[in-house]
Amino acid sequence: MQQKVTVVGAGNVGAMAAQRLVEREMADVVLVDILEGIPQGKALDMMESAPVERFDARIRGSNGYDETEGSDVVVITAGLARKPGMTRDDLVLKNQEIVGGVTREIARRSPDAILVVVSNPLDAMCEVARRVSGFPRERVFGMAGVLDSARMRWFIAEALGVSVESTHAFVLGGHGDTMVPLPRYSTVGGVPIPELLSQDKLDAIVKRTREGGIEIVNYYKTGSAYYAPSSAVVEMVDAVLKDKKKVLPCAAYLQGEYGMRDVYLGVPVKLGRGGAEQVLEIRLLDEEREALAKSAEAVRELFRILKV
Ligand code: APR
Repeated sequence: MQQKVTVVGAGNVGAMAAQRLVEREMADVVLVDILEGIPQGKALDMMESAPVERFDARIRGSNGYDETEGSDVVVITAGLARKPGMTRDDLVLKNQEIVGGVTREIARRSPDAILVVVSNPLDAMCEVARRVSGFPRERVFGMAGVLDSARMRWFIAEALGVSVESTHAFVLGGHGDTMVPLPRYSTVGGVPIPELLSQDKLDAIVKRTREGGIEIVNYYKTGSAYYAPSSAVVEMVDAVLKDKKKVLPCAAYLQGEYGMRDVYLGVPVKLGRGGAEQVLEIRLLDEEREALAKSAEAVRELFRILKV
């Protein structure tokens, strides 16, 4: 393949994203993890599926970073999940150490790469990657909104008994409790969903979207979602590699847009070969603006914990 993508973290999200990338022949992939043998084993296992699945993209696994040199896009999924007894602040500091270390290695070898951050807490980890890499804001952004809106689209499709392809959903804000799903910009066949669903049903969809991550964790018990998160990553990487100028909700570093500055927040972004090329601003109602400000405040609170 002509393009090279590195995926750091060969866990559930990373491995699944890597698999989707090579199976679709979108790029050659380097899969990196700190666990000895795991990225090598998963990469070899995937290559051995290639004759049957019929793809000619290559995937290699490594515990180091030399193989990642010259990557076009780097997806960062490395991190720890929150364990019992760990405070949110502990998790931020631990994952900051991991994401900071990964970013340092990546930035040295792929100074022109675009970084797609997946590790949680997402908005704070985007900031860690931005500060440590020193890359411009266009080249450091996070995956959250594509996943959140995909979840919302599925709930809409299920509620109305329509094809998922006919749905569109719009989600702003941080990745978490303060997420701001916007039904009035969410549509089925171009029709805003408040025209099609009762207020009760809309409220239920908004709530379920906001709690989408937890719903899956409650099923899995020991782990979090990865099928939908990896799909979301791949859609973003595809938009970048093909310079599609696709408008997708991403965690982007705001510099005055939506009246906010120096904070990562989920907003609609034009994704192309330059990365997050443009933040699209839409007019918000007062209560939506307030919800977004609350979301930004929650993200800033995490930034204050960071020691970078
Ligand atoms: N360098 C490289 N890899 C690392 C490092 C490190 N310093 N530290 C941890 N890892 C690896 C782990 O070894 C593990 O294989 O990151 C991987 C994380 O995988 P999982 O625990 O399976 O987590 P996953 O479900 O893939 O989620 C990854 O995405 O959605 C977010 O909250 C989620 O932050 C989490 C991330």
